[in-house]
Formats: sequence, C-alpha cells, structure tokens
Amino acid sequence: MKMSFQHLAATLALVAGLAGSTALASAQSASDGIVVYNAQHESLTKAWADGFTKQTGIKVTIRNGKDMEFANQIVQEGAASPADVFLTENSPAMALVDGAGLFEPLNADTLAQVPENYRPANGHWVGVAARSTVFAYDKNKLTEDKLPKSLLDLADASWKGRWGAAPAGADFQAIVSAVLELKGEEATAAWLKAMKENATPYKGNSVAMKAVNAGEIEGAVIYHYYYYGDQAKTGENSKNVSLHYFKNEDPGAFVSISGGGIPASSKHKEQAQAFLKWVTGKGGQAVLRDGDSFEYAVGEGEAANAKLVPLADLNAPKVEPSKLNSKKVTDLMTAAGLL
Ligand SMILES: [Fe+2]
Repeated sequence: MKMSFQHLAATLALVAGLAGSTALASAQSASDGIVVYNAQHESLTKAWADGFTKQTGIKVTIRNGKDMEFANQIVQEGAASPADVFLTENSPAMALVDGAGLFEPLNADTLAQVPENYRPANGHWVGVAARSTVFAYDKNKLTEDKLPKSLLDLADASWKGRWGAAPAGADFQAIVSAVLELKGEEATAAWLKAMKENATPYKGNSVAMKAVNAGEIEGAVIYHYYYYGDQAKTGENSKNVSLHYFKNEDPGAFVSISGGGIPASSKHKEQAQAFLKWVTGKGGQAVLRDGDSFEYAVGEGEAANAKLVPLADLNAPKVEPSKLNSKKVTDLMTAAGLL
C-alpha cells in the first residue's frame, strides 16, 4: 500500500514534470513562431508550413488574404507589421512592398537555391513557385490553326465576343503587367481597350474556364494549373478544354513568379529566413512536384510535377519581376473600363 502510494506520487510528479516541460516548450515555440501573410493558395502554403514545422519545430501561423490586399497592408503597417513572411501568387505585389523599401534582403544560401530568372536581381525576395499563362480553349470549336499566335491577337475584331478572362484578379493583372513591361504603355492601353470590346469578364479563372467548357466562349486567358487541378479531380469543368501555350517569348507565354519575402519589421528574422530556405529547398519544392497544386517548382535542379509541360519548354519572355508595376496596371485597366 505504502509502496503503491509512493509509486503513484512518483508517477504524478513525473506527469506534472512532463506537462510543465511541454507547456514550456509550446510557450517557447509560440514566441519563436512566425506569422505568414499568405496570398498563395491556402492548401499549398499549409503543406509548406506543416513540412517546415515538422522539420524545424518552428510554429507557423498563417493568415490568408490576397496579393494586393496584403501588400498594401504591409506598407500601411510599416514597422508595426506582425508579418514575418509574405507569400504571393504573383510578382507585382512583391514589387510593391519592395518598392516601398520594406523587405529584408534574403540570405545568400536561399537565393542560391533558385535560378536567377525566377527571382528579382536585387535579392530582396525570391521565387517560390511559378505559373504559366495559357489560352484555355474549347477543343470542339478551335483547331490549332485557328488559335491566336500571340496574346495581342485577341485584340483583333475577329475575336469579338469569343474570349474571356478574370480581369479583377491578381493573376490576370500580373499578365497585364508583363504586357506593359514588354510592350510599353501605349500598346498595353490599346490592347486593354480592345479587350474591353472583345472579351467577357468573369469572376475568377475557374469560372472563365467553366465558361469555355460550357461553350459560352471559345477561349480564356488563365493560368495553367486551373486545368490540371480540375483534371486531377473529376475533369467535369475541363472535359472540353485544351491548353494553348503561346511560347515564342510572347507576352502570352509569361511565366508569373510567386514570391516569398521577409518584411524588414519582422521580429523573427532568423526563423523567417529558415522558412524561405526550406520552401525554396528540397522539401518545399517536392510539395510542388508531388502535391496537387500543379504549380511549377522553381528550385535549382528541382523537377516539376510530371504532368506539366516542362518550364524550360515554355519559351517564356524575359521579364524582370521587380519591374512589374501593379499601380500602372490598375490605372490602365480602370481607364479601359475593365475595373
Ligand atoms: Fe490563381
């Protein structure tokens, strides 16, 4: 009896000790954890965060939002921003924060993991994934010879009423920012004016692809992964759809870089640097290769998902991502009546 009481007491003490050290550990990891302002797809960033936490023990708190919403929020919050990492779908939002001088330069070992064409030259942020512009078309209506040779051909009157896009989204606006960077303001304004005449606006890329699939329009300018994502599920929203890659360094072959950066105001810079090193390294890039995001891996020597047309075959135009100007784009799109 006495023995078992002692045993019980010892057990209780042990349990209390364990509970105490667990509480201490979680308090520590909470104060050491990082906050990610995430504008990338929620499931992709969750997979990255889980993999990173599993390997490092560093807790990741994800706040979900949109590219421009978070970019403007970081600028407004300035030194008081709770964000340790900012992840976007596209480069213009990164360029906005960088233009305000609010990014911490990234460690050289992280930058070294990503080839130069998938990150800005100044090293203030880095590409974490990439997506290709495509013309998703109705394969029952269009044969290869009838496809537009260039994105700019969709301005032609012969395309009136036949194509669509989601002009209010960050994805399409990134494509316009590439047109602006490659062709200049005048040509971009003219193209947008013609788009207003010719194209049907949709609320989101999936909706635009569905419209193609349903035969409402013959084609839509979207990103590639909407198609692959649907095909991997039931395929019901893409069964009549094929993808046309413009290639030839056409503005329509624009490959948009999803970015990762560290606001200079971060109080957890070391952990934030570790996170971006992990995302751009083997572990993070394997999530792109093996998962169901169907976005391109951008890490040096990292293979893309085997279902995708290889990034190197897309013949994308060369665009310096830090030059993509979101403000000018929304001004031009507003002037054209698209926003
Ligand atoms: Fe998207």
